[in-house]
Amino acid sequence: MQRKLMERVPNMLIIIVACTMILVMLPEASATRWTVGGNMGWNTNFNYTTWAKGKHFYKDDWLFFVYDRNQMNVLEVNKTNYESCNSDNPLHNWTTGAGRDVVPLNVTRNYYFISGKGFCYGGMKIAIHVQNLPPPPKASPIISEATTTTTTISSTTQIILLPIVFAIGATWDAFINLC
Ligand SMILES: *[C@@H]1O[C@H](CO)[C@@H](O)[C@H](O)[C@H]1NC(C)=O
Ligand SMILES: *[C@@H]1O[C@H](CO)[C@@H](O)[C@H](O)[C@H]1NC(C)=O
Ligand SMILES: *[C@@H]1O[C@H](CO)[C@@H](O)[C@H](O)[C@H]1NC(C)=O
Ligand SMILES: *[C@@H]1O[C@H](CO)[C@@H](O)[C@H](O)[C@H]1NC(C)=O
Repeated sequence: MQRKLMERVPNMLIIIVACTMILVMLPEASATRWTVGGNMGWNTNFNYTTWAKGKHFYKDDWLFFVYDRNQMNVLEVNKTNYESCNSDNPLHNWTTGAGRDVVPLNVTRNYYFISGKGFCYGGMKIAIHVQNLPPPPKASPIISEATTTTTTISSTTQIILLPIVFAIGATWDAFINLC
């Protein structure tokens, strides 16, 4: 019976380690869906250069354009046509007709979007610089402090968990013996 118990402990440890790894990896896996212009949406009388300033757009984030489908549209153009507001021959027409268009930023590069129908001249244009998600920082003092805390919690958790693991094991054995 003692040997059976010992066989079960590694399995529990694997589960605990797997759960911890998933929790650690979660923030890295999350992508941001940016509503372009925030509450203003994709609109006139708004400076999108100012809006984008200081924001970090990472690969696999999305842009969400919300606008009046009867008036504006969402066209991806190159730098030249972004600057000149030329909506002829867009690189990509993201307009679906619903006034709600989602653009995946799945490549690390510069993206340029304008609204056609003359709205670009009024300022409906946005340039987005997409970068790779930075690797998780290791040397930063804040992180090392957090790691220390995690380590402390883990060893405490182990002290609390191990008797539980044994208890479950013992109950399981009792249960199996009953059958
Ligand atoms: C953008 O496309 C136009 C043609 O629509 C082309 O003349 C221009 O050179 C291109 N600019 C860049 C930066 O690729
Ligand atoms: C973009 O696509 C929409 C929906 O298919 C279409 O109605 C519109 O004419 C297109 N606009 C341009 C500039 O290609
Ligand atoms: C990025 O997304 C576009 C549109 O969904 C798709 O056509 C393209 O293949 C994707 N590129 C990569 C590198 O995943
Ligand atoms: C938006 O603001 C920037 C300064 O943050 C300015 O350089 C730019 O000309 C403005 N764009 C428009 C369309 O008004």
